[in-house]
Amino acid sequence: MNLKDQFIKYFVSHGHKEIPSAPLIPENDPTVLFNTAGMQPLIPYLLGKEHPKGKRLCDAQKCVRLTDLDSIGDKTHHTFFEMLGNWSLGDYFKKESIHYSFDFLTNILNIPVERLAVSVFAGNEDIPRDLVSAKIWEEVGIPKERIVYLGVEDNFWIAGDSGPCGGDTEIFYFRSNEEIPREFDPNDERWVEIWNNVFMEYNKDENGKITELASKNVDTGMGLERVVAVLENTDDNYKTSVWKEVIEAIEKVSGKSYLGNEVSMRIIADHIRTSVFISADPAGIKPSNTDQGYILRRLIRRAIRHAKKLGIDTTMNWMEPIALEVIKKYENYYQEIKMNKKVVLDVLNNEGVKFNRTLEKGLKEFDKMLKNINNKVIDKEQAFRLYDTYGFPIELTEEMGREHGLSVDIEGFKEKFRAHQELSRTASKGKFKGGLMGHSEIETKYHTATHLLNAALKQIIGLDVHQKGSNINEERMRFDFSCDHKLTDEEKKQVEELVNTWIKEDLPVKMVTMSKEEAVKSGAEAMFIEKYADVVNVYTIGDVSKEICGGPHVENTGVLGHFKILKEEASSAGVRRIKAVLE
Ligand code: ALA
Repeated sequence: MNLKDQFIKYFVSHGHKEIPSAPLIPENDPTVLFNTAGMQPLIPYLLGKEHPKGKRLCDAQKCVRLTDLDSIGDKTHHTFFEMLGNWSLGDYFKKESIHYSFDFLTNILNIPVERLAVSVFAGNEDIPRDLVSAKIWEEVGIPKERIVYLGVEDNFWIAGDSGPCGGDTEIFYFRSNEEIPREFDPNDERWVEIWNNVFMEYNKDENGKITELASKNVDTGMGLERVVAVLENTDDNYKTSVWKEVIEAIEKVSGKSYLGNEVSMRIIADHIRTSVFISADPAGIKPSNTDQGYILRRLIRRAIRHAKKLGIDTTMNWMEPIALEVIKKYENYYQEIKMNKKVVLDVLNNEGVKFNRTLEKGLKEFDKMLKNINNKVIDKEQAFRLYDTYGFPIELTEEMGREHGLSVDIEGFKEKFRAHQELSRTASKGKFKGGLMGHSEIETKYHTATHLLNAALKQIIGLDVHQKGSNINEERMRFDFSCDHKLTDEEKKQVEELVNTWIKEDLPVKMVTMSKEEAVKSGAEAMFIEKYADVVNVYTIGDVSKEICGGPHVENTGVLGHFKILKEEASSAGVRRIKAVLE
């Protein structure tokens, strides 16, 4: 029996009702493009509404996460994945939840206890340390040295910024043939997380206020692809039974073997599977230039480009045999895949035909362009021509650029894109959430304000303030930074005033592209230096700020309006969080 069937059977035999996966495209939530976790469609029930199927549920949920799009091609990332989950809606809590997980892993999947370790929530100023879970883990047989306490960043779960939430306990598996260390070190990558049990007993409102929920719930999530890889003893998810037939179909179509062509084959496999699921979803998404349709287009076109790299004749209907394997694999689990089979195949074929008309010429144009590159940047005219005339999504141009050590003038591209939009009076403003050009005017302003805030904190609080995270939407900006104390009212006021002074000075925002090394040497601020490509964009604002950043930014700070801090609070140990708005 496969893992999905085993999981459902186990929880059904323990009083859970199986529920169908919710659609990939959320029905009533325009703020997210795709369902990203099994609990999302259950939010009303986690908040207290009665579920028609009762208090114990389980399912395999379809999820799409786009944060890792650029990582697809490695061994472990996917855009689409299935999350196995079991829920208690005000029924059982920590004890049974942990017992079920442990029983399933050790007795059903036969994973040896010696290979398991767990983390539990260390607590913070609002919520106590989870000694209860730790004790239960010890009782079931996890030794003390395999239990660690971690803070909000690791062991507290919430979907987005507000909603039902709580501390969680994560289960790790030691994936290596090396000797298993006695003590669990969560930073040792040989320990991979396989299952997360969230104890949802709180609700966080829009202002960050935490209150207890009427009922205590359990929300768990197990990444199917990852656990199958563990069970099949490989560190390459694409070598497991999940992908076997799909990879074989790609090998057949290309006449090449997986070995030596892994990256392109993984991208093709992943992108076609995700495209099948997106186009089969009841929302009826078709490739387009906005929102989910734009993602679908990007995925299909990127797959086509990689097919070309493998030497596949892309003028043939080459995607069909691969998509058919995907459909065969999932149609008995997800009825929309069966029902919409023809729609899916048409979407792939039509988009393929469309892109193929210009692909060959576009690739030639790209090669020609390579001879006319200044400063290692694909300029806005070149990028826009590839987009407009040859149908290359800008992200594809970026990817191809990267392969040649080039970056793209994204800012300039967007400028041209907007001008073009206005000209053709098509797409409505702010509708391009999915793509890079997806930033609305106000979000762009918040990007620039984030740099100013970072610089102001350094001047007022101290040079050891560093950015730890940031999140922007149309309503506000959020900024996490290292700092060992709660800001005083005076400090907040000074930071606010300094940002507003810089806004009034109407400082110019400039972008230059340079090597990562040069950027670091020049003192540019960077959050995750190891994550950047070798060539980076450095944004300066007057002489007050210099940061490595992907943009987008405004041209002059004068347009930002008035900056106001709404809230300053703890985020985790040694990290503070500011929420602010531009008025
Ligand atoms: N909602 C939890 C997660 O996605 C289980 O990790």
